[in-house]
Amino acid sequence: MLGKMAGTKASDFDFDVCMPTYDYVFQPDVLRNKVAFITGGGSGICFTIAEVFMRHKCQTVIASRNLQRVQVAAKKLEEATGVQCLALQLDVRKPQDVMRGVDAAVDHFGQIDILVNGAAGNFLVPASGLSYNGFKTVMEIDTMGTYNTSKAVYDKYMSKHGGVIINISATLAYRGQLFQLHAAAAKAAVDSMTKTLCNEWGPQGIRVVGIAPGPIADTEGMRRLGGGAMGKQGLDQLAQNLPLQRVGTKRDIAECAVFVASPAASYISGHTMVVDGGSWMTDDNNLEAMGKRFMASAKL
Ligand code: HXC
Ligand code: NAP
Repeated sequence: MLGKMAGTKASDFDFDVCMPTYDYVFQPDVLRNKVAFITGGGSGICFTIAEVFMRHKCQTVIASRNLQRVQVAAKKLEEATGVQCLALQLDVRKPQDVMRGVDAAVDHFGQIDILVNGAAGNFLVPASGLSYNGFKTVMEIDTMGTYNTSKAVYDKYMSKHGGVIINISATLAYRGQLFQLHAAAAKAAVDSMTKTLCNEWGPQGIRVVGIAPGPIADTEGMRRLGGGAMGKQGLDQLAQNLPLQRVGTKRDIAECAVFVASPAASYISGHTMVVDGGSWMTDDNNLEAMGKRFMASAKL
């Protein structure tokens, strides 16, 4: 297992911050007495999912490879919300790690009511330049990681108590997004699991729902897919191509996750909700535009 990652320091994780103020859409205690296990919860979209869950009184476990990242994040989340957050180190590719993490969470909180499969890896690369190991790595993190964590949580808690599994997906496979062979295939497989596990685990009171974000501002995902090098002008241009004329926010995704986890969604299962303002239909998917994004991302 990784300890403090070589060359990292606490300030490396200052990027993700909690919202300075928060106006509630849903009842403030809608997730009271619930516990959520969130892979990838130390950064980006899943950090904000943890924050918004905690603002709704849900206790959380955030887990990823870098212990320091999740520890720093847990501290920020607890300070902002006054709700407990347990930081755990695990690699979703390793079943033993995942089982140990799930055991630790159940020992600590006594329950896991919500699982968010958010851990993922991605980069922009043409298929011709993608190595065998590059493809395998992303499949292992996104697809195998979702399977490994879902199975461990099912075996160790949800099979007897029910719950909600939220799979963070993507729209990349819908139009065969250029230079995203690996991540598109990995997330398409995740969407397939969302349906099969809905069918198989529904009788145990488990709902399985996907959320497929569009381009989300201030995230590693967006940075890696060219957004990091676009500058304000480039990002404005990107936004003009999108139906709602803006990229998404981490909060857009987190509010959907609260809805999905709440009783308001109690008859929703087996479906992947696209939370992208329609972006997948109009965002760039031609060689010229994506070639520019690839060149920009390669410079980062
Ligand atoms: C081509 C690359 C590459 C790149 C890595 N590889 N980066 N190939 N272009 N930019 C190749 C490596 O050369 C290697 O293959 C293989 O991938 C594994 O690389 P490692 O660095 O050894 O892997 P690892 O340390 O396990 O790290 C996994 C990782 C890394 C995915 C490569 O970037 C990571 O940890 N990412 C987590 C954070 C992240 O990606 N966040 C964004 C999620 S956003 P060879 O053949 O050389 O051995 C997201 C958005 C989806 O998913 C949709 C957006 C719209
Ligand atoms: P992010 O901040 O990089 O989040 C990914 C997280 O996964 C990191 O916290 C990372 O932490 C963790 N992780 C990576 N590999 C892991 C492993 N093997 N085991 C355990 N944890 C691992 O990226 P993001 O942009 O917010 O993306 C979050 C989710 O949204 C992902 O599922 C992504 O595919 C999806 N998504 C994002 C966008 C977007 O615009 N950003 C669009 C569509 C979908 P460690 O490095 O500490 O392990």
